[in-house]
Amino acid sequence: MEEMDKAREILKKYNQTHIKNLNKELAEQVLKIDFEQLQELYEQVNNKVADSDNIDNIEPVKAINPSKISKEELDNYIKIGENKVRSGKFAVAIMAGGQGSRLGHNGPKGTFTLTLNSKQKSLFQIIVEKLQDAQKKYNVTLSCYIMTSPENNDDTIDFFEKNNYFGYPKEYIKFFEQGEQPLLDKKGKVLIGENGLIKLASDGNGGIFYSMAKNGIIDDMKKKNIEWVFIGSVDNLLVKYVDTLLLGIAIDKKVKIATRTIIKNSPYEKVGVLCKRNGKVKVIEYTEIPKKMRFAVDETGEMIYGESHIMCNLFNIEAIEKASTKELKYHIAVKKSKYMNEDGIIIEPTEENCYKFEKFIFDSFCLFDEIAILRGKREEDFAPIKNEKGIDSPETAKKMYEEYIAKNV
Ligand code: UTP
Repeated sequence: MEEMDKAREILKKYNQTHIKNLNKELAEQVLKIDFEQLQELYEQVNNKVADSDNIDNIEPVKAINPSKISKEELDNYIKIGENKVRSGKFAVAIMAGGQGSRLGHNGPKGTFTLTLNSKQKSLFQIIVEKLQDAQKKYNVTLSCYIMTSPENNDDTIDFFEKNNYFGYPKEYIKFFEQGEQPLLDKKGKVLIGENGLIKLASDGNGGIFYSMAKNGIIDDMKKKNIEWVFIGSVDNLLVKYVDTLLLGIAIDKKVKIATRTIIKNSPYEKVGVLCKRNGKVKVIEYTEIPKKMRFAVDETGEMIYGESHIMCNLFNIEAIEKASTKELKYHIAVKKSKYMNEDGIIIEPTEENCYKFEKFIFDSFCLFDEIAILRGKREEDFAPIKNEKGIDSPETAKKMYEEYIAKNV
């Protein structure tokens, strides 16, 4: 009873009185939500526009371009990276907590299956095979940490169980859940889902550091003497999870974070770009890039802000630990989401109807004065699956992957 009263008080205080049918489960959910923070986030929605053309103190970044350095130097970086992998002080983490809403696949995105060179493979299997290749090549079994969401955690674990972890030793794979935030409608009211509870959505891939700390993953890494962790996305068929070149560069340059980029294919491509703001590396998402930056070109006509973030990031354990203690900022996305209205009717919106609050992994870059940036190549590094059809779809990714394999294996 006390819980119900407390929840009612909170709802009143934060102007959420559209919630009428309070029950025990809903009250428990209300008590867990930080409505103070949610209110602040909603206030940011209206202030966002003012900042979108502000390019003060912004400058381009410098990336290491492998085609511009000697073979000897390149081989040396790779050797440094390979030695670290062999030492067992390197691990990987897969960000698999996203909702994959654009793809529309029923189930965790990593369970999406496609036919590659006549073999059916899920996105998870493709990644595990990369770890198995490293196992053979470097004679070491790498630890793999998989970030799920409360929504897809059980299905993800079931999938690995059913597939016998694709033959990888089960004890080297650990799952941990990321956090969630409520969805707010345009008036700042929490959306209610079909089950009568507040609708929650994963709070973005930047939640990874805090979730690692909270779930004992950082402690586990330290116990295993892991120094470096490659953190990648689940949906890029070409991501090099065991990126020895990036690792060697990070170690040689004595930085705590390194990222592999590619050049944006047009000012309109939906990727975040790197720049420096107030001297620190920052990524500006495609939804937030000011026009002056988007279209800026140098005297040769090349995009000045073309270095794109493709979720291929390497973190030293110290960087992970530091980021886990900092509150990364929330970004605002406008989404379309089904909900239950005050009369208990399920509404399927035809237009975007709510705000989603997400943290981004790259907001950790500015925690350090310098990070290493390595310019990769689209045809070797980036075949994402985002949409069901058209650009960045299973069809385009399959084609790129098969072409890459034909050339490189
Ligand atoms: P995206 O931001 O492209 O999201 O994720 P998504 O879930 O794949 O797809 P949409 O936007 O809903 O269509 C890039 C990577 O970050 C992970 C995703 O799983 C993917 O590997 N991610 C994203 C998380 O792990 N958690 C999140 O909260 C969001």
